[in-house]
Amino acid sequence: MLAGKRILLIIGGGIAAYKSLELIRLLRGAGASVAPVLTRAGSEFVTPLSVAALAGEPLHQDLFDLTTEAEMGHIQLSRAADLVVVAPCTADLMARMAGGHADDLASTLLMATDKRVLIAPAMNVRMWQHPATQRNLALLARDGILVTGPEVGDMACGETGPGRMAEPRTILAAIEVALGAGPLAGKHVLVTSGPTHEPIDPVRYIANRSSGQQGTAVASALRDLGARVTFVTGPASTPPPQGVTVVAIESAREMLAAVEAALPADAAVFAAAVADWRVKNAAGQKLKKQAGAPLPTLEFAENPDILATISRHAQRPSLVVGFAAETETVVAHAQAKRLRKGCDWIVANDVSPTTGIMGGGENVVHLITDAGVEDWPRLPKPEVARRLAARIAEALTATDPKDTA
Ligand code: C5P
Repeated sequence: MLAGKRILLIIGGGIAAYKSLELIRLLRGAGASVAPVLTRAGSEFVTPLSVAALAGEPLHQDLFDLTTEAEMGHIQLSRAADLVVVAPCTADLMARMAGGHADDLASTLLMATDKRVLIAPAMNVRMWQHPATQRNLALLARDGILVTGPEVGDMACGETGPGRMAEPRTILAAIEVALGAGPLAGKHVLVTSGPTHEPIDPVRYIANRSSGQQGTAVASALRDLGARVTFVTGPASTPPPQGVTVVAIESAREMLAAVEAALPADAAVFAAAVADWRVKNAAGQKLKKQAGAPLPTLEFAENPDILATISRHAQRPSLVVGFAAETETVVAHAQAKRLRKGCDWIVANDVSPTTGIMGGGENVVHLITDAGVEDWPRLPKPEVARRLAARIAEALTATDPKDTA
């Protein structure tokens, strides 16, 4: 998918540099050529010989390498590429990019290039969370630098949290998207996520325990395959992903309006935990406690079913995917739900408290389509999202979306 594309790959000084060797292999396997650059610190982690051998090209290391300067020069090196990729991108490299430094080959190339730059940050959790790194990240994003990762997980330093470099396959996908080559390029996908808040009065509301993690992961995975994503989210504890259009709403009725306004879409994934009922007699003013007065009673009205509405909409996306959070007879309930709601697929999961799924980092799902039921293993939510996004990409690129289920 990257045939004829040229990637200038800058390998920074971090333990994750060994994964960049795999990235070179994947890039070449996808048809790209790789011009490798290794920083001085990078060469402490991987050898110049392995980088050059895998790239099948000479390695560039010094700004004042006279031979290279005579033959090509750093300016040309930075421009002959279709995309500049920095992986791993250390806290120091991020700081120097944000500050516009040009005191070694890598930083000079990054300053001289007229091409897009994608970074894959990798560092210790504390270093990633440090205000200076977050400030630099914001500056780089404002400058149009693309960012993939970091991922959350165990790190070589023994700590756990955000800071692990994105996996080579994820970086490859981000490169494809940056070059407009993702399988979902040109497709618009709508994702709902998070809980809804249904007001009781102006300060109180009814909500549920959805964290928005799964919906956020689905939106990120679809974006990583090149889709233009509209992310309609309730008040979730998980921040929305970068690189998607975020529409923040509170109630189910607002969510429906936002979803309808975002149509047409090629596919829609309804991962939100929408409240089934709203308070019919919501008060316009804060309800007051009054000694001796009867306690307030809440009356409920049914909320619109967004999934069912869109499944029968005049502008129905060609693939509509619902989620079903169940606490018993998961598959049977979800199968019935698929038919009742009129969607194409249902991703069903067991959210009984003992599973730790609601609000947790992992999910056990069953994909229910008109072809039957697939039981997926217990997986981290981002991995569930990646598998689902890959299936959506397959479906949207097949003639009839339902064929590939
Ligand atoms: O009926 P239930 O809430 O279990 O259905 C779950 C699926 O329906 C999810 O995809 C959810 O986002 C969607 N849904 C909806 N609008 C509602 C209720 C659920 O879109 N009012």
